Amino acid sequence: SEPLRLGIAGLGTVGIGVLRIIRQHEALLAARTGRRIVISAVSARDKSKDRGLPLDRYAWEDDPVVLAKRDDVDVFVELIGGHEGPAKDAVEAALATGKDVVTANKALLAIHGQSLAETAEAAGKALHYEAAVAGGIPVIKSLREGLAGNDVTRVMGVMNGSCNYILTRMETAGLSYAEVFSEADGLGYLEADPQLDVGGIDAAHKLAILSALAFGTRVDFDGITLEGIDRVSIDDIRAAADMGYKIKLLGIAQMTGRGLEQRMQPCLVPDTSPLGQLDGGTNMVVLEGDAVGQIVLRGPGAGEGPTASAVMGDVCDIARGLRGPVFGIAADALKTSTPAHAKAP
Ligand code: NAP
Ligand code: HSE
Repeated sequence: SEPLRLGIAGLGTVGIGVLRIIRQHEALLAARTGRRIVISAVSARDKSKDRGLPLDRYAWEDDPVVLAKRDDVDVFVELIGGHEGPAKDAVEAALATGKDVVTANKALLAIHGQSLAETAEAAGKALHYEAAVAGGIPVIKSLREGLAGNDVTRVMGVMNGSCNYILTRMETAGLSYAEVFSEADGLGYLEADPQLDVGGIDAAHKLAILSALAFGTRVDFDGITLEGIDRVSIDDIRAAADMGYKIKLLGIAQMTGRGLEQRMQPCLVPDTSPLGQLDGGTNMVVLEGDAVGQIVLRGPGAGEGPTASAVMGDVCDIARGLRGPVFGIAADALKTSTPAHAKAP
């Protein structure tokens, strides 16, 4: 059969990880999908940057929108980031020209998921985003495919590794928030705009996506009650420890009698519980369904290998012809949910 031809925009941490997997596992990917997976063209800002891999075998495009529209691209892989600008423009251009899309961009899905899903489904194309939530943990597939026979009752978890690192380090080293923040920033653990991490925004983007999948509702980022970790003090952490608790940035989404409740905020969790034992940059997502009961998924939420692993899972699905509704239910049938807090007395 014909090879599946990729156009990859963004050659940073995740993009280079994807290139590495495709080069290392060429035969394995072909055996698993029945098609060769090849790269036609790539794009990034700086063509001259040394990225540790030879790129001369791929065509180069300065503009990701041009890349997205190339005739020799079947699947546009967006690994730039940001919910406006080149990432959004290129994803829209790809869908408009009949390409399937794979992205790791949680901000884009959380803010524009509904309109992008409608566009993709109208075109009969895939918009896959496994890497957008919890990095290497296959939580999107678990909700969309694995739990399709369940009424999902609750989704919760730790979805931002940087915040979990900061809270763990404050607790174990007895350092202040400001000290650990500087340390994490210096180690390159935080987003270019650290407020996305410590303000809880990145984790809330992820929760908004999971809520749509879990409850068949339109993505509602603005409906999330949101508080970051930037006001957690070492005294808070010590007081929690004295009571046998840890503080975690916990996301919880559940359908209540008053509507969809979505919260992302620092919470006390018993220190002996699985969430309490979750140290460093690891993520944990707990899914509850009426038939299955409770499932706990734990693993690396970021980094080159884990995130590229999730991107490649999506690419392989497309190679096998797996598309389907972006949020598990046709986009035009997703419910508009009333946020629970909007109805509070
Ligand atoms: P990154 O290392 O900052 O890489 C971003 C890439 O985009 C760079 O190669 C950059 O080019 C390129 N780029 C930026 N603006 C561009 C433009 N206008 N035209 C073409 N290319 C442009 O980011 P990353 O960590 O790989 O993240 C990529 C995506 O994955 C984001 O949506 C992020 O949220 C998501 N994600 C990342 C992780 C992770 O662990 N890193 C985990 C989950 C999801 P230059 O290299 O030339 O500057
Ligand atoms: N900044 C994010 C985190 C990257 O720390 O979890 C992965 O989405």
